[in-house]
Amino acid sequence: MDDLQYVGAVDQGTSSTRFLVFSAKTAELIAYHQVEVSQLFPNEGWVEEDPMEILNTVYECIDKTVQGLNRLNIPVSSIKAIGITNQRETTVVWDKYTGQPLHHAIVWCDNRTQSTVDKLVSKTPNKSQDYLRQYCGLPISTYFSAVKLRWLLDNRPDVRRAVDEGRALFGTVDSWLLWNMTGGAKSGGKHITDITNASRTMLCNIRTQKWDAELLEFFDIPASVLPEIRSSAEHYGDLAINHSTNKTEGSLKGIPLCGCLGDQHAALVGQTCFKSGDAKNTYGTGCFLLQNTGTKPVMSRHGLLTTVGYKLGKNEPTIYALEGSVAVAGGLVRWLRDNLGIIKESSDIEELAKQVNGSGDVVFVPAFSGLYAPHWRTDARGTVCGITQWTTKAHIAYATLEAVCYQTREIIEAMKQDALDADTEEHSSSTLQVDGGMTNNNLLMQLQADILGCTVMKPSMPETTALGAAMAAGKACGIWNLNPDELTNVTFEKFHPSVHEHEISKRYKLWKMGVEKSKGWHF
Ligand code: G3P
Repeated sequence: MDDLQYVGAVDQGTSSTRFLVFSAKTAELIAYHQVEVSQLFPNEGWVEEDPMEILNTVYECIDKTVQGLNRLNIPVSSIKAIGITNQRETTVVWDKYTGQPLHHAIVWCDNRTQSTVDKLVSKTPNKSQDYLRQYCGLPISTYFSAVKLRWLLDNRPDVRRAVDEGRALFGTVDSWLLWNMTGGAKSGGKHITDITNASRTMLCNIRTQKWDAELLEFFDIPASVLPEIRSSAEHYGDLAINHSTNKTEGSLKGIPLCGCLGDQHAALVGQTCFKSGDAKNTYGTGCFLLQNTGTKPVMSRHGLLTTVGYKLGKNEPTIYALEGSVAVAGGLVRWLRDNLGIIKESSDIEELAKQVNGSGDVVFVPAFSGLYAPHWRTDARGTVCGITQWTTKAHIAYATLEAVCYQTREIIEAMKQDALDADTEEHSSSTLQVDGGMTNNNLLMQLQADILGCTVMKPSMPETTALGAAMAAGKACGIWNLNPDELTNVTFEKFHPSVHEHEISKRYKLWKMGVEKSKGWHF
């Protein structure tokens, strides 16, 4: 393979945006730039982001990375394709004639839609949150896009009017970026989404992989606002930036955009979880454990989601996954930094937690957005239990890291239960592949190994989410076949369990008590 071939990836996450460039030959990370994204909290439980800021951070990251490539004497023309990976479910509605957002993006972890959820559940024949699982693999929850779009239609007359007048387009962040990056309002932007993102809306049928008429009717959402569903690896259009202030035009302009996956699905690909049973856990703002279940969707009876894992080409098979979604992981560290001010930088949490040998029996259940998998309780709220006169901020920091690990254990246990029901061994792996920003925290990784009683494997190249999007783009443009042997550089740092299971069981019991206390928080 030509040494001078590179693939770019936009990684638009909840907390930050990045643009990264990988070598096509070795999958090595060559250059990147990262910008934090502002989060707005206009009311309790509401989380918004400005879609224009999201877009501008993408352009800024591309520009800065290109400058970095220039310093390395790498010609921009050697970037052969760009993939996109994104925070999922976050809902954007914009005017197709002006290109302006009609509302701030409602972020996936926003829980303003609690009463919308209650109304929707009461509409189902069996008054069950799980009624739509048979169609879309998901429970009715504040988490998913259709519920957020329903809220916008019910509560924002401007949005309602734009929809009625045929001006409004809906999309998750991938659609918003693809529409703008392929030309937007001025030059015929493409209104598309990929199947992994579509599978998170509650409007896409998990089996047919198409927008489902019954689901659209249930949510009363017109099909006219929806993007076209495509595979995760195909040519969507070329970069045709039309944003007035960006400097990228003339440099990367014209490069094919040809990979797109929700961030957790991209990490599944980036970690080469290509065999049924392979799993990875990504520690970002939230924490998401996905397990490849092959070509058939597996319905969970223990609170996991059924989702499309990836579909790497128009004519390639759709690979499904079971997912355990945890709403708050790195977001809790950001909260300690921004709201309590007990750390200055997110990375300070490791040193602070290391000042103590344990949480001092403090349990911190970060149910800021209710509890996601496996509980799906919109009425849960953040709870700190077990505080005494002796408790310090170091214990709170330690309990914060433990919270991430115990939530992961709950997901693994749900997967084991599902496996027992299905009589397979696929969920009983003795290792867990991990990635995401929080995996830089070695104390967290060791705690995770201890709390799961299994070996935690951290790849030497932690940018597996972006790599997954680059791999999809590279496949679509014929650079990569996605044979795991091609990715020669991946080695793992391993964390082995070091605490007796008896001790962990006692602590896990305390965690479970904390979880029960967090539920039912309403008048
Ligand atoms: O489902 C939400 C998820 O895609 C967000 O990921 O990495 O921004 O926490 P992250």
